[in-house]
Amino acid sequence: MTFAPELSCPAIPLSNGLQIPLFGLGTSHHGGYSHEAIVYALTECGVRHIDTAKRYGCEKKLGDAITESGIPRSDLWVTNKLWHGDYGYKAAKKACLDSCSQMGVEYFDLYLMHWPESSRPGCSNREMRAETWRALEELYKEGLCCAIGVSNFLVHHLEELKEDCTVVPHVNQVEYHPFQQPNHLMEYCRQEGIVFEGYSPLAKGQVLSNPTVLQIAEKHSRTPAQICIRWSIQNGVVTIPKSTKKKRIQENCQVFGFQLEESDMAALGGLHDGRHVSWDPTNVE
Ligand SMILES: NC(=O)c1ccc[n+]([C@@H]2O[C@H](COP(=O)([O-])OP(=O)(O)OC[C@H]3O[C@@H](n4cnc5c(N)ncnc54)[C@H](OP(=O)(O)O)[C@@H]3O)[C@@H](O)[C@H]2O)c1
Repeated sequence: MTFAPELSCPAIPLSNGLQIPLFGLGTSHHGGYSHEAIVYALTECGVRHIDTAKRYGCEKKLGDAITESGIPRSDLWVTNKLWHGDYGYKAAKKACLDSCSQMGVEYFDLYLMHWPESSRPGCSNREMRAETWRALEELYKEGLCCAIGVSNFLVHHLEELKEDCTVVPHVNQVEYHPFQQPNHLMEYCRQEGIVFEGYSPLAKGQVLSNPTVLQIAEKHSRTPAQICIRWSIQNGVVTIPKSTKKKRIQENCQVFGFQLEESDMAALGGLHDGRHVSWDPTNVE
């Protein structure tokens, strides 16, 4: 049985005209990897957007799952990320090619610098970001990456990059869930034409037992996870929940057949407490 009809996932435009699907499936080195679940998401749930990173260590397996699904590469949106151990001009270009070959793909739809900090002693973060970004700009111009972006970048990181480079990042992927709403950063990204993508939309599960979320879920006869994913989507935020379980993936995809009311959105918007469940780039210069 295919669940694609309710999925019919909308996409939003990047500044270069490409359309990124609002809903994607996350993968991670935390909590394992399930080949079966990925194939199920692609073949039975209509998922067409997958988020991964070299850091997660599953590029090869994910490439195998994509091949097994039989979905044409051109129908998929694949995001990958460059780990900061591979920052620097030459290393970044090599890492991207290596990641393509690990996954058995010829290009990435989106390629992100994973983290704003340099891991090379003696080189400032700003210099390293600029040098690495130049490599990404070339990968973009060569067509190996259809769009390029950053992850965990704050306003000051983006402002410096703007001064140092020519291509404005197409996307900034940042932690985003009801407990973590970086509204100032979101507003900055919107003004600069950078699409804001949110990761850990379920706060790694922490938000699923919140009483406000439970109450809204009950009202709509939906699950807490569906409420949080729907909230991201209604805020225009690209969202990439991760699960290794078929049943949960199916559940997480069923977020296009209902609408949260203004009062629900406001109640969820009021849950921000500033906590990070992943990592916090605040102190990265
Ligand atoms: N750029 C970055 O620095 C960065 C950082 C973190 C994450 N990410 C990306 O964002 C994706 C999602 O983030 P995340 O994995 O940190 O957090 P998340 O999606 O908020 O939560 C994932 C956790 O929730 C559980 N879960 C999923 N669906 C559920 C459901 N319907 N009901 C109950 N529990 C459910 C999962 O367990 P099971 O797997 O057991 O179902 C897992 O433990 C990652 O996979 C990755 O692609 C990016």
